[in-house]
Amino acid sequence: MQFHIITFGCQMNAADSTWLSRALTAMGWEEVSEEEAQVFILNTCSVREKPEQKVYSQLGRLRPLVEQHPGGFVAVGGCVAQQVGCEFWKRFPFVRLVFGTDGISNAPQAMARLAQAPDLRISLLDFSESYLERETPEYKTKAPAQAFVNIMQGCDNFCAYCIVPYVRGRQKSRSSQEILAECRTLAEAGTREITLLGQNVNSYGLDKSGDGTSFAELLHQVAAIDGIDRLRFTTSHPKDIAPEVIRAFGELPQLCPYLHLPLQSGSDKILASMGRKYDTARYLDIVDQLRKARPDIALSTDIIVGFPGETEDDFSRTMEMLERVRYEGSYSFKYNDRPGVRSVRMAGKVPEDVKSERLERFQTAQNAITEEIHKSVEGSRAEVILERPTRKPVEGLPGWTGHDLYNRVINVPVGGQIASADLTGTLAHVTIARGRRHFLIANRMEEL
Ligand code: SAH
Ligand code: SF4
Ligand code: F3S
Repeated sequence: MQFHIITFGCQMNAADSTWLSRALTAMGWEEVSEEEAQVFILNTCSVREKPEQKVYSQLGRLRPLVEQHPGGFVAVGGCVAQQVGCEFWKRFPFVRLVFGTDGISNAPQAMARLAQAPDLRISLLDFSESYLERETPEYKTKAPAQAFVNIMQGCDNFCAYCIVPYVRGRQKSRSSQEILAECRTLAEAGTREITLLGQNVNSYGLDKSGDGTSFAELLHQVAAIDGIDRLRFTTSHPKDIAPEVIRAFGELPQLCPYLHLPLQSGSDKILASMGRKYDTARYLDIVDQLRKARPDIALSTDIIVGFPGETEDDFSRTMEMLERVRYEGSYSFKYNDRPGVRSVRMAGKVPEDVKSERLERFQTAQNAITEEIHKSVEGSRAEVILERPTRKPVEGLPGWTGHDLYNRVINVPVGGQIASADLTGTLAHVTIARGRRHFLIANRMEEL
């Protein structure tokens, strides 16, 4: 069978899609473009309204494509599948598999059955008690230079606005032995950079599936693996970041000087009603300690504007935090009601136009800071792992793009003998020529 995967949402969904693609390929199926596919997989996100709406518009768009193929079907997986379940079948009869986060481990077998039995429908929506190991197909070719490794599933925090604990289930840590085994296999197959993934990696090991290994210990163990040059992790909840994890930024040369540390709001009143369990003083203290451990550390964040009860004064405190911390970048969103979460019933809903106006102000200020930081690194040296060719030429030459240690996007113009070479995974040492708002441009590279 020929399949095509469309992925929404966070890096955990992206990592799930990568696994699914490898598992289906190992079964003899072939990943193809949308036009050629008979089986479509939508890996969905329900964290905000927009990505959820996209699932329905995608299904409408896919209908004629699926109906061209007698044995064709759509599988809907991920967080909207977990939330909506078998309701999908009523509206979209060509959806024949729904699977959730834990169900995904059995999705390849289910899809093999569906390909044989055109009248069958399968749902895989149960949550498991402990972390479900998935069979990892061998890499047939070289492993990617960068890889994601799951260290946990789910979340126990129930922040007032957030649907994730409902759609991803309770926190379940993966065994440290399994994590290390996967990292070693990747390193042996050629992976140089690993990002450890979870909704709240700082509480790794603290649930009942934990095996006594703390997150800081895990970082040290992964960093010690031969061949792993770069280590990152995401996402971090500020309330759980341990002093040992902060120190690790100064101790482990493999740990990249970059941390995504979601703030959500700069108002202590709003943070309390969000149930975040830290205040701005504690957050700023963490930032100070991180900068002591690793003075050049780059920070990014998530912000919600217009949470119920947010006044102009509350919002101005978010703006103040942006100026104080000077994030390299941020993901900022207008607050959305999500089904079943606590904030739906909170008073003081902020009108849409006020939310839009605050979002605009925040993003304008962030863009200016990002651009200033990017300008300030002009002339400095950077280490980039090249990921893929750029869509457009860079400075009139073929371009390659990748990230540096600080997670900045660097576009490198490539000339001379290597202009047409496959540079995927190459570690390039470059000089930054120009800083732009969303990326940096390096000096021309002509040899490795
Ligand atoms: N586990 C991660 C967040 C995952 S969701 C963490 O705790 O940092 C990614 C981001 O989506 C959140 O950080 C938050 O900023 C945003 N978000 C979540 N629910 C939202 C909602 N109801 N409305 C708007 N933004 C939301
Ligand atoms: Fe959602 Fe909060 Fe869990 Fe992050 S920590 S996934 S924001 S409930
Ligand atoms: Fe979205 Fe689910 Fe990730 S709701 S953000 S895909 S955990």
